[in-house]
Amino acid sequence: VDDFRKYIADIKDKLFKYQTEKRSKTYLALNENPYPFPEKLIEEVYKLIDPYKIPTYYDSPDEELLNLLLEYINSDKLSVKNLSIGNGADEIIYYLLLMFKEMKVTIFPPTYSCYKLFAKDIGSKVISIPLKEEKIPINEIENLLNVDSIVFIPNPNNPTGHFFEDEEIEFLLNTGALVIIDEAYYEFGKRSYIDWIDEYKNLVVIRTFSKAFSLAAQRIGYLVANEDLIDAYNRIRLPFNVDYVSQLFARVALKNLEFFRKRIEEIINEREKMKKELMSLGYKISNSQGNFVFMYLDTDSKEVLTREFEKKKIAIRKFSEGLRITIGTPKQNEMVLRIFMEVKKNENSKN
Ligand SMILES: Cc1ncc(COP(=O)(O)O)c(C=O)c1O
Repeated sequence: VDDFRKYIADIKDKLFKYQTEKRSKTYLALNENPYPFPEKLIEEVYKLIDPYKIPTYYDSPDEELLNLLLEYINSDKLSVKNLSIGNGADEIIYYLLLMFKEMKVTIFPPTYSCYKLFAKDIGSKVISIPLKEEKIPINEIENLLNVDSIVFIPNPNNPTGHFFEDEEIEFLLNTGALVIIDEAYYEFGKRSYIDWIDEYKNLVVIRTFSKAFSLAAQRIGYLVANEDLIDAYNRIRLPFNVDYVSQLFARVALKNLEFFRKRIEEIINEREKMKKELMSLGYKISNSQGNFVFMYLDTDSKEVLTREFEKKKIAIRKFSEGLRITIGTPKQNEMVLRIFMEVKKNENSKN
């Protein structure tokens, strides 16, 4: 007979362990914010903590956070009924897959790896359609997508950082598929589809506090969609999925937007500088609108560069198409650029 061991063996056989690059001093592999959550704001969180609330089961989301989120998304057509939260955007992705587990999951690689990883956990069917020159190959998939499909699309895309065009998003929505737009990097590119939610009942937008607000460790994300979908989401998710203190962190972040906006602008400036420099060195880079840059590379140059980054103990993310590097502090970005310059110099002296 099959006992539990069979299921364990099966899981080990079929599912990958989520793995990240080894932590190093210069860690540019996970698109984290290079700046700490400010101590002054941690003090603000501390002052808000009510010791009597710690032993209680605390509302997730609480009303105050919902109201601040509603203000932040700044859409006059939506209400708090269009909003809910998750333990990071990742948990939201997981729950959405669970809600629609019978539907075909469609992704467009290169894309965020967790869509496929989580879909496999849940046992959903995954269809991968590679992007062509960063575009969704609309002509090839007209008959593939329908009301049975759930589509995940990061915008800006991870790992390339490019934006999809309105026409591509419109095409996806008009197939009747459920379209999940993952705006994890929204603040670094400032283009959103939240305003389309009123018109398209098959559109969900996900966002996170992990990137722009330096809160990856606190695990807090949110989703915006039509009221019915949010109601169903709230039934599927675990009752107290985002803890009290994490919600306070998110509230304090939203009350100090000016501070974060300045930091975001600094990261954007550094990104644009990095893109320009890499381009002038002759690298093929994409027009990233996230807190990272991506360059397309053939296998040989990718290997050479990877070795150099390893030597300098700088962690970056390798893809079959190229390399993705998170924008760090100006000093870190300087180190990154120096590696590229040296590699180019060596290449040129060989030719
Ligand atoms: C596109 C995308 N979505 C979601 C996430 C996960 O965000 P969170 O930390 O909120 O789970 C990431 C993190 O890298 C991401 O790149």
